[in-house]
Amino acid sequence: EELEKGGFDHFMLKEIYEQPRSIRDCMRGRINCEQGKIALGGIKEYAEKLKNVERIIIVACGTSWHAGLTGEYLIEEYSRIPVEVEYASEFRYRNPIITEKDVVVAISQSGETADTMAAIEIAKEKGATIFGICNVVGASIPRITHAGVYTHAGPEIGVASTKAFTAQVTVLTLMALYIAQQKGTLTTSKLTSLLTELNGIPEKIQAVLATNELIKNIAEKVKDSRNCLFLGRGSGFPVALEGALKLKEISYIHAEGYPAAEMKHGPIALIDKEMPVVFIATKNSSYEKVVSNIQEVKARKGIVIAIVTSGDREVEKMVDYCIEIPDADEAFLPLLATIPLQLLAYHIAVMRGCNVDQPRNLAKSVTVE
Ligand code: G6P
Repeated sequence: EELEKGGFDHFMLKEIYEQPRSIRDCMRGRINCEQGKIALGGIKEYAEKLKNVERIIIVACGTSWHAGLTGEYLIEEYSRIPVEVEYASEFRYRNPIITEKDVVVAISQSGETADTMAAIEIAKEKGATIFGICNVVGASIPRITHAGVYTHAGPEIGVASTKAFTAQVTVLTLMALYIAQQKGTLTTSKLTSLLTELNGIPEKIQAVLATNELIKNIAEKVKDSRNCLFLGRGSGFPVALEGALKLKEISYIHAEGYPAAEMKHGPIALIDKEMPVVFIATKNSSYEKVVSNIQEVKARKGIVIAIVTSGDREVEKMVDYCIEIPDADEAFLPLLATIPLQLLAYHIAVMRGCNVDQPRNLAKSVTVE
């Protein structure tokens, strides 16, 4: 087992560090930056269908559901098709309104999650076209879907999902751009520039991983907290949810992710000098608004940890701890901003003496209801 960990203390840490490579593997052979073209062999038979689809429904559980939320943002932004993201467990019991016109995308690392499988069967009965986004090749979900795209992240051993999540987000990005390509909602030059930027993401992740020591120091300062809030807007919102999930899964600190603007409708009541609040405060369309949310937390003496775009001195002055990530298109932000939150959760859990790779009560794959 020590050998399999490749010199890392835990599988989770190894898998966090594998992300530049796993994302590259996920894109390999699928993008052509020079020509601004995307090829997704697994769903190419459905290219015509995607041109005319009126609605996409994403079903998933856990971390995969968070990836689905980033997919909603990406697909709506680039292909202008309305997307709904559903917890598979809710969808399956709601007599969902699905027709043969719909495309349902099921996301699952393991490809074995019982609720996601049941959701697929229901959508299939109603005549929808089902795509899978799975990591484990040949698992049950890829076998019951009509078509799909593998994430190719390689085996994920840590129960808390890390590299599978970023690979799912990468596939959803490719899918969103692929649909845009079919529909013609993006020009070739825009596609070229987006694909070029996407292609540079693994290198940027490498730069984020280099902040590990800083993150470890921050972890030391907040490791004894009893609660933690994660706030973000736009594509930063699913990142906040995922950051909170990682922390609660492996460190057993109660953590919640919220859209930053919703803070005033509840979570603000919890803020005092004991409460760490992690903000996704990168320079994008909602930057100014997030900055004012940070001020609101500081006015109540909360401890602010901000994920910012490198070179941001404004937020740095206001907050307790700052983690810089390279600048990127808003749509690609989740791929970068998630990494420091994975590391933060990891270090806090290690410092608290938790079993990082096998947290209590959790399973890697939930094959029962
Ligand atoms: C379990 C795992 C999570 C995972 C979820 C969905 O809860 O611990 O890491 O996100 O199941 O699993 P799936 O394999 O369908 O992505």
